[in-house]
Amino acid sequence: EDTGQEALFDATIAADERIEPRDWMPDDYRASLVRQIAQHAHSEIIGMQPEANWITRAPSLRRKAILMAKVQDEAGHGLYLYSAAETLGTGRDELLDKLHTGRQKYSSIFNYPTLTWADVGAIGWLVDGAAITNQVPLCRCSYGPYARAMVRICKEESFHQRQGYELLLTLSRGTEAQHAMAQDAIDRWWWPSLMMFGPPDDESAHSAQSMAWKIKRHSNDELRQRFVDICVPQAETLGLTLPDPDLRWNEERGHWDFGPIDWTEFREVLKGNGPCNDERIGRRRRAHQEGAWVREAAAAHAAKHPAHTPH
Ligand code: 3HC
Repeated sequence: EDTGQEALFDATIAADERIEPRDWMPDDYRASLVRQIAQHAHSEIIGMQPEANWITRAPSLRRKAILMAKVQDEAGHGLYLYSAAETLGTGRDELLDKLHTGRQKYSSIFNYPTLTWADVGAIGWLVDGAAITNQVPLCRCSYGPYARAMVRICKEESFHQRQGYELLLTLSRGTEAQHAMAQDAIDRWWWPSLMMFGPPDDESAHSAQSMAWKIKRHSNDELRQRFVDICVPQAETLGLTLPDPDLRWNEERGHWDFGPIDWTEFREVLKGNGPCNDERIGRRRRAHQEGAWVREAAAAHAAKHPAHTPH
């Protein structure tokens, strides 16, 4: 490579400025971004499934309208992110193919079932809360298109988080059965939410390089701790408890200590052995096949009317 280009890239990163699609970048930087952005995009669209499961059974018109809007937002996030990946020269077809054949990952969290209505609240509060904690720093990612996509995504995620919190608060203050349903959802979603941040720092394959490139701004463990610290007082306000007997305020560290995470479970889910992996990927593949005629029709239309093709 031209050393001048590499020096310019290094200087741009050092100055906290943005790398843009037409700039020279190291191949590994490009590949790591495609990997992370694709995994993120896949998580958004697979993440539509567990919540969509409750659209037909939402307890009121108001709740149903909110949930439909939220699931549509996730589809939109997927689209911004696939577009961000396209600016790196990787097409959406290729990424979807890698998802469908298990060569790219999506977040572990979406391999858990949504057993009750309260799970919609738990996903909003905990899953979207964890996503925001992880993604707000990504608004300062060194790659421009990803960072900019993240600004809008985080605004929408923060609405999602609030709707989940409000839903849980309503259940928690409802009947005894409603309160118990909310508690049960928290009991099931808490630990998987902590796993969303990825493996512990000393086992995180990509963290050091991604942080040097300013793709990631904080380590997995740092963000996980930040999330726990945010959730503990919120759980108290909700009148619900977090299922961890080891949660304790640590005066010295100025953080909440928490118990050990079951990393065996995490690794199993990543290997495809979570409770819903087969169901999620099977449904995604079917949706893709069933949508083939739409893609073909759109392509045929675009070929007939090239002037109307958006650029
Ligand atoms: N689920 C699945 N795979 C995970 C994972 C998780 N929770 N955490 C880590 N991994 C994978 C990594 O992708 C990597 O595998 P790979 O080499 O095949 O890509 C491997 O485990 C090692 O982990 P690392 O810590 O080395 O990986 P990263 O440096 O990429 O860090 C990350 C992982 C923190 C998840 C980072 O990729 C990231 O910040 N990604 C962007 C955010 C994102 O993807 N969020 C998805 C969450 S859900 C969501 O956004 C939808 C919303 O609607 C809720």
